[in-house]
Amino acid sequence: MSRIKIPDAGGATMIGADVGEFIQPCFPMSETELKDLFKNMPNYKFRDDDVMLLTFPKTGTNWLYEILHMILNRSSEYTEDTKMDTMMESRLVADIDTVKSPRIMNIHYPYEYLPIKGLQEKQIKTILCLRNPKDSAVSYYNHMISIKLYEYDGKWCNWLPTCMDGKLEYGKYTDYLKGFETAIKQGVGFPLHVMYFEDLKSNGLEELDKLLKFLKIDLDTELRKDIIHKCRFDQMVNKNWDATNFMFHEAKEFTTKGFMRKGSVGNWKTWFTVAQNEAFDKQWNSEMEGYSMFKFKYAL
Ligand code: A3P
Repeated sequence: MSRIKIPDAGGATMIGADVGEFIQPCFPMSETELKDLFKNMPNYKFRDDDVMLLTFPKTGTNWLYEILHMILNRSSEYTEDTKMDTMMESRLVADIDTVKSPRIMNIHYPYEYLPIKGLQEKQIKTILCLRNPKDSAVSYYNHMISIKLYEYDGKWCNWLPTCMDGKLEYGKYTDYLKGFETAIKQGVGFPLHVMYFEDLKSNGLEELDKLLKFLKIDLDTELRKDIIHKCRFDQMVNKNWDATNFMFHEAKEFTTKGFMRKGSVGNWKTWFTVAQNEAFDKQWNSEMEGYSMFKFKYAL
């Protein structure tokens, strides 16, 4: 395990932490602490009322975090904390323990490194939110050039092949999806609700109702509508993001809105060239051969 510099295809580098099985962001803690966190993750002990949010980077974590916070607190007030407070690979267990219940635990780890035993023992209600890989990639690139800890200023054309080769944090999205598909087919042993960024975008109320049904929570119509309204991109962008701002380059465009860039479906079309798109499809289809559980929308 160590702090490493990952080169992109053009030689620009980004900082990461190698935890042995994959790379994760170099969160501010010592190497020993990072190592222990990764090693002990399978044995994590949940609280009975924890809810778990599973996402690959840039697939709607902050959005779902806000919605879940409102649901669990039966309120449409924005939370003052952030998903970073309970991001399991980014903070020491003792620190996450100080967060009051109900907690929305969240993590980007691939399936095989999740605290499965704890999820099963406590039957933790778990949500997996997925997003189409092209919009996720564009979002991820913009995330990396905005966030201080990566120290990265490479070009999209050099970043994309590095991402497709699985050299970035948490490995390949295709492996992430294959890991989940295999586990779901075998039976995960804890309650799991799968949802999609694109559906949430196009049909928020319906997706909220499915989520409420899964969580076995009733909310009145007015509150349900209000939650969807407050969590629309153009509303949520105005919440106070100060708690997250420490991560961003002060001089860059996304200083105050780093996790709220476009919030759209199909923005990838303005980033991918025809050749990049063809190469992406070819590699994606080849890697996903034999796996068909998750279906993505690339436009609405
Ligand atoms: P873009 O960069 O494409 O805009 P995560 O929270 O997992 O890091 O994901 C970030 C992505 O979700 C960003 O995508 C962000 O704009 C988008 N997002 C966050 N809140 C949203 C909302 N309320 N509605 C739509 N998209 C949202």
